[in-house]
Amino acid sequence: MKLWGGRFTRPTDEAVNAFNASLAFDRRLYEQDIRGSIAHVTMLARQGILTEDEGNTITDGLTSILNDLRSGALAFDETCEDIHSFVEAELTKRVGDVGKKLHTGRSRNDQVALDMRLYTRERLMETDALLKELLATILDVMERHIHTYMPGFTHLQKAQPVTLAHHMGAYFEMFSRDRSRLQDCLKRMNLCPLGAGALAGTTYALDRELTASLLGFDGPTRNSMDSVSDRDYLVEYLNGLSLIMMHLSRFSEEFILWNSNEYGFIELDDAFSTGSSIMPQKKNPDIAELVRGKTGRVYGALMSLLTVMKGLPLAYNKDMQEDKEMAFDAMDTACNCIRLFTGMLATTVFHEDVMAKSAARGFTNATDAADYLVGRGVPFRDAHGIAGQLVLLCLERGISLDELPLEEYRRISPVFDETVYEAISLAACIEKRMTPGAPGPEAMKPVIEEYRRQLNG
Ligand code: ARG
Repeated sequence: MKLWGGRFTRPTDEAVNAFNASLAFDRRLYEQDIRGSIAHVTMLARQGILTEDEGNTITDGLTSILNDLRSGALAFDETCEDIHSFVEAELTKRVGDVGKKLHTGRSRNDQVALDMRLYTRERLMETDALLKELLATILDVMERHIHTYMPGFTHLQKAQPVTLAHHMGAYFEMFSRDRSRLQDCLKRMNLCPLGAGALAGTTYALDRELTASLLGFDGPTRNSMDSVSDRDYLVEYLNGLSLIMMHLSRFSEEFILWNSNEYGFIELDDAFSTGSSIMPQKKNPDIAELVRGKTGRVYGALMSLLTVMKGLPLAYNKDMQEDKEMAFDAMDTACNCIRLFTGMLATTVFHEDVMAKSAARGFTNATDAADYLVGRGVPFRDAHGIAGQLVLLCLERGISLDELPLEEYRRISPVFDETVYEAISLAACIEKRMTPGAPGPEAMKPVIEEYRRQLNG
């Protein structure tokens, strides 16, 4: 059934029907569509635009459709143009002509604007809950590893020693920002477009405050043209998902490196890795690679929606139907990636000994050797030069700074004495880093407590 046959004399071309239809993908909005219709009808009856009886009949009909779709008792009629036409046709089938009154004072333009907003709001809250679980998993790792030493890198070269807790803490910060970005987006989007009509409101005495509050919005939107043509909230949400994916992708990249034979920092659980069809020895980090790879799809959805919107004159244009498939794919992809990554992280074994050994090699304590001299009055620039000479000497001999004999230290600078070994020990290098935000365990403890409060609060 079509919602708009009246002014046409010839049937629509079949190819046009197929090209125009959106039921194949907007069917996933059925819950939101029906909940929106029930709120609309409740309001119409309250305002005396429909009688109480009419309101109840339509509400009962819609509720039965909702239940039947949920249970699978009712199948989607593929000949319908979209989810809105399908629900309305089914309603009229069930309750008769009174069903045709549902669409009083409403257009599919404000209807679809509402459905998308309700759906996006739900997925946004789901995303937030998944991020919270990921953060809790990261925090568990942090709490277990404030004394697990590992190299910190710049340019992917060993730089200075840090702890695993500290490294994980960087991701805790990233995903916390992602959550606050989602909350921010939620605040801005939580206004109800229902009642905007096609673009110019209606002449019926709709109570938009009522429908807004029935549907859990903070209030109605303030401009009917903007209401039906605004997809900013979806752009913002896809932007939020893109950043989440960017963070997950970086995390994945590190896990792939750490899981390699060369690093050997971690071992992924069998349940979260895969094998090779030819090489029996392989245990591949496919989950991390897929998360990294799927990041592109989510960025693609963001770019695609921005591009769809960029040339649209006010108000509704059919182009906007293109907001759905990409956005749905991005939501599914991002939520799945967070879920899978969390499971992978929770089951990963960290090889503390390998990490600590790696931190002890590669002159990660060279800065501390320079700082030792600074502590004894040598200007930092000179100290840096001296430490550089020491590194060169060690490189020639294939040893570490800890293994260089004291005479050699003293030959390059007499300021050194036997206390240097303690000062440049891995433990000292880390434990002494106690400025706020640094990896020293004493600096990290209050941060971890703060994270715990944040998650529980
Ligand atoms: N399927 C359409 C969409 O997703 C619903 C709105 C149709 N409105 C219209 N005037 N053709 O945007």
